[in-house]
Amino acid sequence: MKVVAVNGSAQKDGNTFLLLNIVMQELKAEGIGTELIQLAEGAPLQGCTACMKCLERKNLKCAIGSDPFNEYFEKISKADGLLLGSPVYFADITAGMKALIERCGFVARANGGVLRRRVGAGVLAVRRAGSNHSLASLNHLFLINEMIIPGSNYWNVGIGRLPGEVLADTEGVTTMKTLGVNMAWLLKRLA
Ligand SMILES: Cc1cc2nc3c(=O)[nH]c(=O)nc-3n(C[C@H](O)[C@H](O)[C@H](O)COP(=O)(O)O)c2cc1C
Repeated sequence: MKVVAVNGSAQKDGNTFLLLNIVMQELKAEGIGTELIQLAEGAPLQGCTACMKCLERKNLKCAIGSDPFNEYFEKISKADGLLLGSPVYFADITAGMKALIERCGFVARANGGVLRRRVGAGVLAVRRAGSNHSLASLNHLFLINEMIIPGSNYWNVGIGRLPGEVLADTEGVTTMKTLGVNMAWLLKRLA
């Protein structure tokens, strides 16, 4: 069993990365493999251009070949679970994460709903405001693709501004640990 995690932050190894890692540690402790994709490490993703070629070709690929989306989607489409992480930028997810969601959603639906009944969860790093709205933005991908979302004991948010500050948010850390435990529980029952 495997979960692919995507860090949508413009900064790699920052707060979102740290939150994703807490969830991944719990998954690993339950024997579930993990792989992290950091959008900041690759060329920026462009949004969907509405060319509709994925609907014609049905080849599990986006027609835009100039960025790493297809490499990411291949990993996502083969995994049992998807963990999306984003910092809150202007009360929403980052532009890179939105681009990933637009293209993942269209390519998955063009190919018979390849993400159907996979497990999906989102986490947010936030300084102060906009995190619940942003969690809804991540959940939009899961819900329209018939994915199953585990919960935690609070909304999946870690509070912090500078890289590392989320680790001082003890409630946020506990929320991530519980999310990881619940995600593993769900993955095992769906297997
Ligand atoms: C362009 C930009 C916009 C931001 N907008 C918000 C915001 O609307 N609300 C908020 O609470 N924090 C906002 N922040 C702060 C980040 O969400 C916060 O610093 C977060 O921990 C960064 O995560 P990272 O280290 O993974 O990049 C913003 C930061 C940037 C760079």
